[in-house]
Amino acid sequence: MKLPRTGTIEIAPSILSADFSRLAEEIAVIESTGVKMAHLDVMDGHFVPNITIGPPVIAKLRKVSNLVFDCHLMISEPDKYVEQFVEAGADHITFHIEVVKEAAELIEKIHGLGCSAGISLNPETEVESIKDAASLCDMILVMTVHPGFGGQKFMAEAAKKISEVREIVGSDIRVEVDGGIGPSNVGDVVGLGADTIVAGKAIFSHTDRVGAIRAIQEAATN
Ligand code: DX5
Ligand code: ZN
Repeated sequence: MKLPRTGTIEIAPSILSADFSRLAEEIAVIESTGVKMAHLDVMDGHFVPNITIGPPVIAKLRKVSNLVFDCHLMISEPDKYVEQFVEAGADHITFHIEVVKEAAELIEKIHGLGCSAGISLNPETEVESIKDAASLCDMILVMTVHPGFGGQKFMAEAAKKISEVREIVGSDIRVEVDGGIGPSNVGDVVGLGADTIVAGKAIFSHTDRVGAIRAIQEAATN
């Protein structure tokens, strides 16, 4: 599966706040709403102080879902693991600029494996750091929380970088935003230029996941 073409607003539910004992059902429910992407948060306990899922879980989910798997690698050595993630069924791989010196090389490697590629910036990381490699990406991910946990408070200051990133990449590359997004602030990040919206708690803290996704979609487009 490929990232949706630019020109649309897409919601990418983050399964980090889903019920991990029922992941297949959770994925099926989000897929039933017509969203195209699932955001899969991979953490190594080193780049971030938390550990989540890796290739074996993604491979199992691949068997039960046709969603675009947007894999957000919050790991110290992404270069070592990209093959495994592609093998498991990743469609898009985002790595963090804070841990990669030769971003262009890693993007090329990911593309060579048949996957789209993205770079993410932590809240304190300058947009300048991605300037050279940005145009090679399919999507840039702006973090609006410190990566590591779901359900954190949205950092409005970090969101300001969305417009800077949009200015650099133009309209042919997706700009994704991740952390603390829900119906109350999604309009603001879309206004700044984001077109791909990650949401975890704002979806999975509600019994009615479908209604929660609709609420974000409505607030994003109105
Ligand atoms: C945080 C993750 C996010 C997280 C977002 O490190 O990268 O994708 O799941 O969750 P919410 O929407 O709850 O902030
Ligand atoms: Zn994420």
